[in-house]
Amino acid sequence: MKRILVAGVSGAIGGALTEALLERDKESVMVGLCRDPAKVSEPLRSHSRLTLLAWDAEDSQAPDAVARALGKIIPAPEGMDTFIYAAGLLHDGAMFPEKRLEELKAESLSRAFAVNASGFALLVRALLPVCHCTPAQPILC
Ligand SMILES: NC(=O)c1ccc[n+]([C@@H]2O[C@H](COP(=O)([O-])OP(=O)(O)OC[C@H]3O[C@@H](n4cnc5c(N)ncnc54)[C@H](OP(=O)(O)O)[C@@H]3O)[C@@H](O)[C@H]2O)c1
Repeated sequence: MKRILVAGVSGAIGGALTEALLERDKESVMVGLCRDPAKVSEPLRSHSRLTLLAWDAEDSQAPDAVARALGKIIPAPEGMDTFIYAAGLLHDGAMFPEKRLEELKAESLSRAFAVNASGFALLVRALLPVCHCTPAQPILC
């Protein structure tokens, strides 16, 4: 039985991958992360083999909270065997893709780094005890 974690389950890529993986392997168990699980679209939100957890890549405490919650859902000896990082931030109401140096803003750069880069690394660090990904089963991003 595959146990798969998807960060960014509410997004276009993360949601499509989650749907496809649940469909492909009827034994798989999945955990999906995003800021607000209530916003994940149906039928994923009510899928019996998908558990949704809140996680904000801009919150430095969030990875440890995810690891604690995961430990209750999936016993550590079993652990997750695949981790897909599909969270990403290019633009939202407060930021947009810069086209000129003059448009760079420290806060936007910092937010983009938190979601697109350090969010991945900090989750991997926190999930080490419950993630049994090996080089042969690489972490995808
Ligand atoms: N789709 C494409 O064709 C394409 C092509 C090239 C590159 N990309 C890049 O690939 C990434 C994913 O693409 P997408 O189309 O799936 O984007 P999307 O639909 O906008 O989804 C973004 C995902 O990232 C999550 N996210 C954003 N900010 C977050 C935060 N602070 N903490 C936790 N999660 C956060 C969102 O969750 P929330 O529900 O919490 O917002 C959502 O699940 C993006 O960076 C995009 O720019 C996409």
